[in-house]
Amino acid sequence: MQKITVPVLHQKRHDGEKFAVLTAYDFTFSRLCEQAEIEVVLVGDSLGNVIQGRDSTLPVTVAEMVYHTAAVKRGNDKALLVSDLPFMSYASVDDALFNAAALMQAGAQMVKLEGGAWLADTVHALTERGIPVCGHIGLTPQSVHKLGGYKVQGRDDDGAATMVADALALQQAGADLMLVECIPSALGKQLRDALAVPLIGIGAGPDTDAQVLVLHDMLGISQRLPSFSRNFLDQHGSILEALRGYGEAVRSGQFPSAAESFA
Ligand code: KIV
Repeated sequence: MQKITVPVLHQKRHDGEKFAVLTAYDFTFSRLCEQAEIEVVLVGDSLGNVIQGRDSTLPVTVAEMVYHTAAVKRGNDKALLVSDLPFMSYASVDDALFNAAALMQAGAQMVKLEGGAWLADTVHALTERGIPVCGHIGLTPQSVHKLGGYKVQGRDDDGAATMVADALALQQAGADLMLVECIPSALGKQLRDALAVPLIGIGAGPDTDAQVLVLHDMLGISQRLPSFSRNFLDQHGSILEALRGYGEAVRSGQFPSAAESFA
């Protein structure tokens, strides 16, 4: 696999080539992702759930994200490495700059943050200083208490219109990638058509430029398998083959199916 950079991903979007994104939290799984040619590795704050056994991502700290980012970086030279800015670590522009610097110095090549147009100044400040940004809209787990649970977002016309406006505001501010979580498939397509930057979906239907899953979900070892995920270890004999199978299923458009999407 070629070394994956932001321009490489933009070219893929331009050429209509889908790519795969997977979370990893340690050296060994990061190395397996490289061997399986997964294009983007996300050190997600979902580590709060699947590594630490917490019931939300809110307790995850910047120091923990730095620790896991450094371990993942040591296992992978090829994938683009994206790290989550955890809860409240980007509450102000200054906080975002300081904490994003810590993630980049640990090996991240892009940071991801959750929220809409209100983050435009933050995204602008980061990208202006050479820190690439992935926006995260739709279901934003750091706002679980405001949202009232882990629910599908953008089902009504107002919610959908706000989400498209948020995506465009983040792109306008300089975001190079957009991730959208748990929305109806039709809105996934609408967002993909509205944006120029690659759109990564999770529970967002088949029409996005890329898909992301939480590693433990796609290996079927999480406490609960979300309805939009698939157990790839079941179909393939080893972890490495499961990761390869996931990448191929995403690139060929075979994942997600309608049953793994929201109407
Ligand atoms: O933290 C994470 O793993 C994420 C994915 C759910 C997209 O943000």
